[in-house]
Amino acid sequence: MSLELGLKGTPMSEVQVNEEVKLNRGDSALIGTVRLKPNRDKTVRLGHPWVFSKGIASFEGINGGLVRVFCSQNTPIGIGYVNERSNIRLRMLGHFESDPDRLIFRLIKKSIERRKILNIPSNAVRLVNGENDGLSGLIVDCYHRVLVIQIGTLGMEILKDQIVEALDLLVGAPVIYEKSTSISRKEEGLKSSNGWLKKDEEVGLVEIFEKDVRFLIDVVEGQKTGFFLDQRNMRFWLKDHVEHKSVLNLCAYSGGFSLHALKSGASKVTSVDISREACRQMHLNTELNGLKNHEIIEKDVFEFLTNCQERYDIVVLDPPAFIKSKKDLLKGAKAYREMNRLALEKVKNRGIFLSSSCSYFLDEGFFETILLEASLLAKRDVQVIHRHSLALDHMKSLAFREGEYLKTVVMLC
Ligand SMILES: C[S@@+](CC[C@H](N)C(=O)[O-])C[C@H]1O[C@@H](n2cnc3c(N)ncnc32)[C@H](O)[C@@H]1O
Repeated sequence: MSLELGLKGTPMSEVQVNEEVKLNRGDSALIGTVRLKPNRDKTVRLGHPWVFSKGIASFEGINGGLVRVFCSQNTPIGIGYVNERSNIRLRMLGHFESDPDRLIFRLIKKSIERRKILNIPSNAVRLVNGENDGLSGLIVDCYHRVLVIQIGTLGMEILKDQIVEALDLLVGAPVIYEKSTSISRKEEGLKSSNGWLKKDEEVGLVEIFEKDVRFLIDVVEGQKTGFFLDQRNMRFWLKDHVEHKSVLNLCAYSGGFSLHALKSGASKVTSVDISREACRQMHLNTELNGLKNHEIIEKDVFEFLTNCQERYDIVVLDPPAFIKSKKDLLKGAKAYREMNRLALEKVKNRGIFLSSSCSYFLDEGFFETILLEASLLAKRDVQVIHRHSLALDHMKSLAFREGEYLKTVVMLC
């Protein structure tokens, strides 16, 4: 049986994974060896996938190729891959794996199967979430009949053919697009890589659904892999709170929050985004769902908020990551504070403010401090009514705290 993932608009719970497959080759060839320094295996044993250069005692093998990993006493502790030019020198694949044969296939299969029990009411699903699925350096998102993969490391780059082969066998999607543009590739010695890895049919915009809302996804021109799947649960949360309410959606992208709000009875939605392409997609998506009362404004949020006189029942703020590295922390925090202050001033009394940050370097505690400062500056007495991180399919490994980048706080104002 092939995986009919979304091929007929199938929700994730009804997906079936191909059980009987024949791969062209195993991936046992050319496996090297890494020995860790004494006491450097503790976090790996707990499931953390990274070892930095100072933790490595010796490495024999091909840079980027698979390695067996041993602790200092020579006990095998798993399989990974090495990049000698990267600060993160060793990345583990899976957890306590001992057999390199069909490893990538087995790990991808496990990731897809995990998602089957989540009952996600959509045919747009993250199938592989990097380190959190034991596949450091690999993201796979599925949009109906189209898979989009992101490769972030040399080790995964070398395994690309096996990844495509595994996805082909497991999912059977006619189209696979690669969108490997993360800045981490530079440190791995890799250039950006975009293009079709499989294209058995012509692809334009891909139509997907989330509950009762349809979206057109542009996997080539769109941001990230085409859609912000990570905010799915918050879009669903909003649906229950918008009836007869006016909504301001700031940094709206293709209208995720906006269209769910309108579909669930919001009286009016104003969406603001600086990107022309995002606004174009928002117009298309509004039309696709036959929705009215949607004002789309192509503008910088700071400029919009500075000049806006109106107040709204609900304000959503989901900006891009302002903090891209540790050294940007204070500068980025200032931008978050100012944007949140301005946004809070546009919320009506007893209105709702939903604020997100996707900056990995900003932890939840600091984000809430920024929100407190913003509320004091805006002279608003706010109460937290909900907190959320990632959509269900962005499941996290408890051993990998670094995977927690998205934070959302919902406040009553
Ligand atoms: C994280 S995405 C928002 C995702 C959206 N909430 C969703 O559910 O699909 C951030 C968006 O902010 C937009 N953006 C970035 N800088 C901006 C600015 N200064 N003013 C307005 N929009 C901005 C980007 O174009 C992008 O669409």
